[in-house]
Amino acid sequence: MTRLQVTGLHKAFGRTEVLRGLDLDVPSGAFAAVLGPSGCGKTTLLRVIAGFEDADAGEVRLGERVVVSGRRGVPAERRRVTIVPQEGALFPHLSVAGNVAFGLPRRMRDRRDRVADLLALVGLGDLGRRMPSELSGGQQQRVAVARALAPGPDVVLLDEPFSALDAALRASVREDVRTALHEANTTAVLVTHDQEEALSTADVVAVVREGRVVQAATPEQLYRAPADLAVAAFVGEVVVLPAEVSDGVARTALGRLSLLRGQVTAGRGVVAVRPEQIHLLRSGRGGVTARVLGTAFYGHDAAVRLEVTGPDGVAVPVLCRTQGPLPADDEVGLLVAGPVSFFAAS
Ligand SMILES: Nc1ncnc2c1ncn2[C@@H]1O[C@H](COP(=O)(O)OP(=O)(O)OP(=O)(O)O)[C@@H](O)[C@H]1O
Ligand SMILES: [Mg+2]
Repeated sequence: MTRLQVTGLHKAFGRTEVLRGLDLDVPSGAFAAVLGPSGCGKTTLLRVIAGFEDADAGEVRLGERVVVSGRRGVPAERRRVTIVPQEGALFPHLSVAGNVAFGLPRRMRDRRDRVADLLALVGLGDLGRRMPSELSGGQQQRVAVARALAPGPDVVLLDEPFSALDAALRASVREDVRTALHEANTTAVLVTHDQEEALSTADVVAVVREGRVVQAATPEQLYRAPADLAVAAFVGEVVVLPAEVSDGVARTALGRLSLLRGQVTAGRGVVAVRPEQIHLLRSGRGGVTARVLGTAFYGHDAAVRLEVTGPDGVAVPVLCRTQGPLPADDEVGLLVAGPVSFFAAS
């Protein structure tokens, strides 16, 4: 079990500064997700941690060992860190068992048993003799994870390994991989640009923006108490309402809303409300009156776009989740449940 600590990491390619003082702390045995848009430096971060790329400044610690200190680093093969790359990870000319065994020491005793155990761990017990070309995409990614676990690394780094899979398969492979990593007691970092993947899989999620981690928290903290509006919008849908706060209560187009604990008690700004916090009441049953603009139906639920009239007479767009579509132009009542986040105007 090994804690991973990244402190003040800097990395530039020529004049492009990619990592600009990035901090990340992953507790021993935890599964962390690093969430950021395409091109924000996620792969670069993993390559620096694994030792395939030198840093410009900063430090990486694995437990008590300092493996990166400024421009100097311990060679990759001595770090006990493995990577599962995005796709095309397997050696096509080796069988599944051969691929997994590749990561094991040559003269190891019980090599076969170890390969069989690893394949069982990722749910592929009986496919050892197959060639990679005879596997589905999801099976190939599981083999890549088994191979990364083979040498018994302290840390496994996963570089968007599920992005090529279709939605249903993705969720199940992800769950199996997470279970396998937990069972092997391995500290893991998954990088992804998919917020749902990060929230549903990780113990801790770190949001990267402009080469730094802007917030690191449990999925629930991140979603309910985002550090700023951009984080709020990046990790889910959000309804943004102009607000005026006094005595710790926000006055908005959706009425008087209570704020999360620890927020300012007075000032102007906006509040961020999650669509599922907005409940619908049939017309005449109270709440703030809203007009239905349209509905997108998703099967498991529907997203209704509405409009309310703000205190200053300006229309404010609102989104809420319902079980089925609502007729356009219907009038309904809206009620907000639970506290909301406030962001002061800057
Ligand atoms: N070897 C390199 N030489 C020059 N620039 C590079 C190199 N590797 C990455 N970059 C640049 O660094 C930035 C970050 O790239 P990186 O691959 O780390 O992003 P990413 O977050 O993994 O993106 P994606 O989600 O698309 O995989 C990009 O602007 C990229 O063009
Ligand atoms: Mg990448």
